[in-house]
Amino acid sequence: MSELELEFEQLQQNLPGWVRASQPCSAHGRVAAYIPELSKAPGEALGIHLIDAQGRTLTAGDSSLSFTMQSISKVFTLILALIDNGEKKVFSKVGMEPTGDNFNSMLKLELVRPGIPFNPLINAGAIAVSSIIGGDSPDEKSSRVLQFFRKLAHNDSLDYDYEVYRSESDTANLNRSMGYLLKDNGVLEGDVDDVLDVYFKHCSINATCADLSRMALVLAFNGTDPITGENLIPRRYVQIAKTFMTTCGMYNASGEFAIQVGLPAKSGVSGGILSMVPGRYGIGVIGPALNAKGNSIAGVQLLETMSQQMDWSLF
Ligand code: DON
Repeated sequence: MSELELEFEQLQQNLPGWVRASQPCSAHGRVAAYIPELSKAPGEALGIHLIDAQGRTLTAGDSSLSFTMQSISKVFTLILALIDNGEKKVFSKVGMEPTGDNFNSMLKLELVRPGIPFNPLINAGAIAVSSIIGGDSPDEKSSRVLQFFRKLAHNDSLDYDYEVYRSESDTANLNRSMGYLLKDNGVLEGDVDDVLDVYFKHCSINATCADLSRMALVLAFNGTDPITGENLIPRRYVQIAKTFMTTCGMYNASGEFAIQVGLPAKSGVSGGILSMVPGRYGIGVIGPALNAKGNSIAGVQLLETMSQQMDWSLF
């Protein structure tokens, strides 16, 4: 049996136990409520789906739960913006550095000139990125985003959760103020409300752990879906996305996550985490109860256990 076969077997044997052991820590977390619709999620849930290059899958726990991608979508809108505009333009709108601040902070937009967001994975950065996605109207931009996500997830039924979209749009005072500040700083292109609409829509795309794992698999294989052999993203843009995931993907807990887990990952406030073992697996995790930094508390615990047991850290 090859090393990979052995590893897969070991994962198959251990995954249900690791999920059972990590699940209780969800009691120490809280489901996000600042987007009212998100507060309906089951806080005690924990699920995982993993896929390899041959399309073999492993699932455990509440892996069939569907949830909105929220900030996980920012990785892929960044990639689409890079495809549409190239690096030079994208990096005239957002920087390449972690902030150490909360994901929804706008502090540095005023403090640090020239007032561009530090990176594309904080809210301000993702809003700036939304403004340069190709398309003649907000609807066309949103529809290009959805098509791109469907292709990466290999799932044509991927769609918006309109309840969550409306819930966020109706309550997003902070993101709106960020949009206007970005416009004033000369960063946002186009109408602020149009840009925010594209942003709220991509955050509200519904997915399951299986969808996240298939999207992650494309990143794990440098832009080519190893199951179909189709090249979906230029390698350079995958490199940029994975670097941001490693340095900023878990917000101001990214350093700790790099030490404890050591894999590229991106979290969302709905409790999803997209991660991967480069060259091996795409991974999708859901655990709606969050820790103080906005990351799934049980999901992070599960990934820590897996990475440490399997010796997956890249570092
Ligand atoms: O803009 C927001 O606040 C949400 N749509 C996304 C934030 C998010 O997922 C941050 N995650 N940890």
